[in-house]
Amino acid sequence: MYLKNIHLYAFRNYQEQVLNLESQKTILLGNNAQGKSNLLEAVELLATLKSHRTNRDRDLILEGKKTAQILGTVKRTYGESELGITFRSPGRRSLTLNHENLRRHLEFLGHINAVEFSCLDLDLVRGSPETRRSWLDTLLIQLEPVYASIIHQYYKILRQRNALLKVIRKTVEEDNNYQDLSTEMSQLKLWDQQLAEAGTRVTRRRHRVIERITPLAQTWHREISSGTENLEINYLPNIQTESEEPQQVQQAFLDKIEKRRMAEQQLATTVVGPHRDDVEFNINQTPAKSYGSQGQQRTLVLAIKLAELQLIEDVIGEPPLLLLDDVLAELDPNRQNQLLEVIQGRFQTIITTTYLHSFDAQWLKSSQIMKVEGGKLSPF
Ligand SMILES: Nc1ncnc2c1ncn2[C@@H]1O[C@H](COP(=O)(O)OP(=O)(O)OP(=O)(O)O)[C@@H](O)[C@H]1O
Ligand SMILES: [Mg+2]
Repeated sequence: MYLKNIHLYAFRNYQEQVLNLESQKTILLGNNAQGKSNLLEAVELLATLKSHRTNRDRDLILEGKKTAQILGTVKRTYGESELGITFRSPGRRSLTLNHENLRRHLEFLGHINAVEFSCLDLDLVRGSPETRRSWLDTLLIQLEPVYASIIHQYYKILRQRNALLKVIRKTVEEDNNYQDLSTEMSQLKLWDQQLAEAGTRVTRRRHRVIERITPLAQTWHREISSGTENLEINYLPNIQTESEEPQQVQQAFLDKIEKRRMAEQQLATTVVGPHRDDVEFNINQTPAKSYGSQGQQRTLVLAIKLAELQLIEDVIGEPPLLLLDDVLAELDPNRQNQLLEVIQGRFQTIITTTYLHSFDAQWLKSSQIMKVEGGKLSPF
């Protein structure tokens, strides 16, 4: 796939900006806080409808404006499409495909695929489980767009169930009379069932994606670490079962809810389900999170990113875009070369950097270089 152009209107610090991508490789060069990452964020939004930096649309709109827009034209083997997102504050987003309004997110997703790699991605190893769940979810949305509605549905049920648990706790606290709660308790049973159904769909897909990405990441990892290290990726689902059969997962889910019923009512929040999943990365049988050196953690994340590129390409049938945010300078020359070699001509790549000296002459010659200054782009 090839992203031909991107138009920004009142997006972040861009007033109005068009970028025509004229080469497979684009370098965005600029000092700190000029708008380099903002541009990558716009591409990420076109690909996933999510930003890894914020989940408030208000942050995306140029200060003082009420709406912002991102338009992008992508060329695929099946043809060209123009995608548009309009953000409003206050208000909801609207989405367009070839100038027609879309009612469902599902029709928007999947036209542009992108893998982003930034220095923040080290959090994948070091950060909280939430970071790893979000990584899994973003990857899944790209592999099977329907997952976006599956995960959305799960969180919606979770919120409603949590609200009910709060009502129950409040009633119990106010007058210690459990008999008053029979309606709420039977409502809760219904939510249990819904949570288990939606949660099972989430768990099974997360399981599957880990199974698919692991061998790819292991191969890359061996190559980058020159065969000295062995990577293991383990999915740690909150609902653990022997088999992946939906019936069994759902039953295990309901059993666990039953077991944790008291704790849940005391805390007035749902303590069981895939919102508590995690992923574990081990290098030579040791958790990378606590024992890995900085360099080992970088190698690990690079291997995962390369595996993501490969997995998306395998599933989609076309190479996704690669967005590299300030990451080259972070890698040692050996890992830089590994990365640049893989990209070479295969993936359309947009790279941000503050200096050009990490790139070899060949790269510079074959790249379109744009200068970014105060939310304005100009040829370098
Ligand atoms: N909604 C907004 N309205 C106006 N300006 C914004 C908005 N959101 C972010 N900015 C500005 O955008 C700038 C940050 O842009 P960005 O993160 O793209 O920087 P960068 O060029 O990637 O810098 P670095 O090299 O430090 O990563 C900041 O100056 C910030 O104040
Ligand atoms: Mg940046």
